[in-house]
Amino acid sequence: MPFPIPNERVIVMINDSRLLQHLQDLSQIGRNEETGGINRFSFTPEEQQAIELVVSYMEEAGMTVVVDAVGNIIGTYGEGNETIMLGSHIDTVPEGGKYDGALGVLAAIEVVQTIHEQQLSPSKKIEVVAFKDEEGTRFGFGLIGSRAMAGLLTHQQLQQNDEAGISIEEAMKQFQLSPFPLEKAKRNDIRAYLEMHIEQGKVLEIEDLPVGVVTGIAAPLWLEVTVTGVSEHAGATPMPTRHDALTAASEMILAIEQMLKDTTDSVATVGKLNVRPNGVNVIPGKVTFTIDIRDIDEQRISTLENAILKQLQKIAERRNVPLSSQVLQRVKPAKTDATLQQQLKDSIEKYGIRSHSLISGAGHDAMNIAAVAPIGMLFVRSKDGISHNPLEYSSSEDIVIATNIFYDTVVELAK
Ligand code: GLV
Ligand code: MN
Ligand code: MN
Repeated sequence: MPFPIPNERVIVMINDSRLLQHLQDLSQIGRNEETGGINRFSFTPEEQQAIELVVSYMEEAGMTVVVDAVGNIIGTYGEGNETIMLGSHIDTVPEGGKYDGALGVLAAIEVVQTIHEQQLSPSKKIEVVAFKDEEGTRFGFGLIGSRAMAGLLTHQQLQQNDEAGISIEEAMKQFQLSPFPLEKAKRNDIRAYLEMHIEQGKVLEIEDLPVGVVTGIAAPLWLEVTVTGVSEHAGATPMPTRHDALTAASEMILAIEQMLKDTTDSVATVGKLNVRPNGVNVIPGKVTFTIDIRDIDEQRISTLENAILKQLQKIAERRNVPLSSQVLQRVKPAKTDATLQQQLKDSIEKYGIRSHSLISGAGHDAMNIAAVAPIGMLFVRSKDGISHNPLEYSSSEDIVIATNIFYDTVVELAK
């Protein structure tokens, strides 16, 4: 699609090459040279390096930067009692792509830098936030920074451990943060929160559109299931007498897929499996696996949660392997604000682009911020809908169009 010509009301353009260069430079941090995947997890040297780069960009853009009690990086531009907050995240899933989260933070900085260069004097304060640990990769618990900002993070949640047994609280303290009392990070002055993000689905590609306006965000429920069997000799234990935790878990995982096979709203995924003792000649004695359940409707999530756990329990009983489960994280689905949706649509239409509304299947920090502020999200087309994968891609042309639209919306809101 050719670059659309904005009408005369949109005269300022962001600096394309600077934004694309920032995106490229950030994508080198935590990059696995063999696969091209990016590994930037919370409270690691890679994340710290990324933070330092982002802080330098914020400062160049004219912002004052602070780190809040839980490690959110906050750049502030201008003054005013009311805040327009722009944000996303710079951590990744294992072997992630270069756009998920990073684009939202860098586009927001580019918007502010353009405002700064244009010497506009917005009446509202603009903040850009790189939220702490959106993805939940390290601790099986994500959206940490946005939960804290929304007053939803609890002391107990900070006791969740990574695979090495380090808790979130300990990791925070290792990075010189003093998270308590958690209310320190809570905000109640946000007039509007906006997040630009790649779509991570195929809707915009099918619609042949570079951008879209998000109406609601489906929320994840993460469970961890443990199946306990008996570890025995793989050669000396006859098949009928075994209590194999892995074959039981396999049947459970297939049952989940079967239960959702005709569903178009809800999704459920088993993405992580741990087998113990994990030896070729040992019958698996203990298996833990995660279940990620999503829907835009909270009631459907909870109905599905109960149905899945009931079905897994039946399998466990038949196979005589005890089963336990715990909730790793539960997030509320969120609707975006009608006025912010309209502002984004107006900015899109100024560019001569048809505005299209869609739901986000992926989770975002905006879901939590919705508890304390009106939220709006602008999506950028993803190639083949691929994300959480090194092949994740959005074209430079789409990124530039989206960031100009984002700029227009922010200028209108901060006026
Ligand atoms: C984050 O990308 C999530 O939706 O889990
Ligand atoms: Mn993600
Ligand atoms: Mn993301």
